[in-house]
Amino acid sequence: MTAKQAEQRAAELRQIIEEHNRRYYVLNRPVISDFQYDVLMQELAAIEKKFPHLVTAASPTQRVGSDITKEFVQVGHKYPMLSLSNTYSIEELREFDNRVRKGLDGEPEYVCELKFDGTAIGLTYLDGRLHQAVTRGDGQRGDDVTVNVRTIPSIPQQLRGNDFPHEFEIRGEIYMPFLAFERLNRERDMEGEQPFANPRNAAAGSLKLLDSNETARRGLNCFLYYLLGDQLPADNHYECLQAAKRWGFTVSEHTRKCPSIEAVFDFIRYWETSREGLPYATDGVVIKVNSFAHQRRLGFTAKSPRWATSFKFKAEQAVTELLSVDFQVGRTGAVTPVANLAPVLLAGTTVKRASLHNADQMSLLDIRLHDWVKVEKGGEIIPKVVGVDLNRRPHGSEPFRYITHCPECGAALVRDEGEAKHYCPNDAHCPPQILGKIAHFISRKAMNITAGEATIELLFRNGLVKNIADLYTLKKEDVENFDKWGEKSAENLIKSIADSTGTPFERVLFALGIRYVGETTARKIAAALRSIDALAQADREQLLAVDEVGERIARSILAYFSDESNREIIARLRAAGLQFEAGAQVRFSDALAGMSFVITGTLSRPREEFKALIEAHGGSAGNTVSPKTTYLLSGDKGGAKLDTARKLGVKIIDEEAFRELIGVKN
Ligand code: IVH
Repeated sequence: MTAKQAEQRAAELRQIIEEHNRRYYVLNRPVISDFQYDVLMQELAAIEKKFPHLVTAASPTQRVGSDITKEFVQVGHKYPMLSLSNTYSIEELREFDNRVRKGLDGEPEYVCELKFDGTAIGLTYLDGRLHQAVTRGDGQRGDDVTVNVRTIPSIPQQLRGNDFPHEFEIRGEIYMPFLAFERLNRERDMEGEQPFANPRNAAAGSLKLLDSNETARRGLNCFLYYLLGDQLPADNHYECLQAAKRWGFTVSEHTRKCPSIEAVFDFIRYWETSREGLPYATDGVVIKVNSFAHQRRLGFTAKSPRWATSFKFKAEQAVTELLSVDFQVGRTGAVTPVANLAPVLLAGTTVKRASLHNADQMSLLDIRLHDWVKVEKGGEIIPKVVGVDLNRRPHGSEPFRYITHCPECGAALVRDEGEAKHYCPNDAHCPPQILGKIAHFISRKAMNITAGEATIELLFRNGLVKNIADLYTLKKEDVENFDKWGEKSAENLIKSIADSTGTPFERVLFALGIRYVGETTARKIAAALRSIDALAQADREQLLAVDEVGERIARSILAYFSDESNREIIARLRAAGLQFEAGAQVRFSDALAGMSFVITGTLSRPREEFKALIEAHGGSAGNTVSPKTTYLLSGDKGGAKLDTARKLGVKIIDEEAFRELIGVKN
């Protein structure tokens, strides 16, 4: 490469990278994978290394820091992050106590704590300053989420006092209080985003956000419960926690020393019901041997300490009367029976409705109207009916008769072989299915159009949007006179719809809402078949040849495209400018123009990534080695293709040689 060529290519690469930065950070709509992005950066870095005079301050390679780190850096744990053994009964706990006493040849003192239901974190402090915060990960290595953890007000950046060790780690649980959780889900609902299922998921998700400002807004909190290091301030767990409290950490005030297992039982019995009044989620009690000398004698198994265990609370239950049953029709047409209950207090909230799952479950439990039913709130926020109190069944009650027709549109329900749920087949005209389809279409992972459920409902009720294609003919004048709207919000909506036409094919495919075609399947289909036309024409065998596509998905795709109204909608969307072909926007270089590749063996990344890379550099990738194949790219454990390539004299290259071909050498 001459200096002149290098200069040209560097400029080209910067432009491509900037464009992908914009798509990733500004539009939130990347069209290449992180791997492909890294490869571009590596190529640029390789050029700049060879021709240092080309390095400029503005080059993307020079901008290190939070705005170009897409994922978190992995860090090894100094002490592995183990889990706790579980016990579910008082008997099992007695056995734990017996094992402990046998191991110690004496009487242990226990410390009881609540088991907080959040996500574990390890914080390292150096000279009293927060140095690093790492998630549990696989127990050996976790994600460095320090930037996000620094936004949690209850985690001290600087410790108080002067009796803390020069270096130590403290572990705890990051959690989201119920109030913050409910606020977050309300906001998400309004923005048309999927709500979090429970505070634990919400806490874990918020900790892994790429934007720390957003983490800061989420109202996270943290309880610390475990100190590790060489020079701890005491020889037992309880006093270490008291020291941690003095240094400024939040240690739960509900931590108790228990002189015997009987005292542990008392603690458990108390919290089994009292936890309902706590403003955060707990799922049990943790029991730890207090003395460090005792802990050392008991040691660890491969997975957990022998000096600690947890007692899991049973999901909270309530018993109440079943007043009536509603049937909700979801966006896919799936029918869910929902119980209307006499209001009852459960886990801190009044419950009036609960899921009844499906027809089978209802008949299995023999649930009848006006039965007294047991309602349970597990980890999930939606309560479910789990059983019936037969002693309180009213006289003369009859088995429940499941509906046969859709409560929304009257169509006869169908139930496919092997499916638990009934479906309303009238997907083109059943209102909740239409609304659901539109809501799915605009959602963030699909077309990312910023409108909430309420807006969709408004557009639908006013007859403006009856299907997803109608969105693209919407005009500002149509909506600006809605109650509480105005020019600005109307403009924003129209702009967001127009912007969505740049969404890459794989996401458009996901957005169409073909039954069983989720995000991953859509990506695989887009990578394999490349266009909506190829997909629409594909027969059963061609569909089954696609990774992830089985009989059920294939049947659903065939049914979708055999429906005239779906084909019509696609035609209209195409006219509106939506992307119906894969990878059209990605071109990195012509380095591989005219070359054809076949891949075999295990590479450092999935094959699809390499295929995409080959195509982005102008080459083509196929599945069978022939005399026309330019290169066989072979990873570890290449198979029969290696033999064929050798026989045909096709050149075999490894990943490193491939990287050289596309100019990435470091
Ligand atoms: S102590 C080696 N104490 O439960 C002992 N863990 O199932 C380390 N947890 O990974 C854990 N509350 O995320 C401990 N008071 C508490 C806890 C607690 C919640 C979590 C923690 C741990 C998991 C084990």
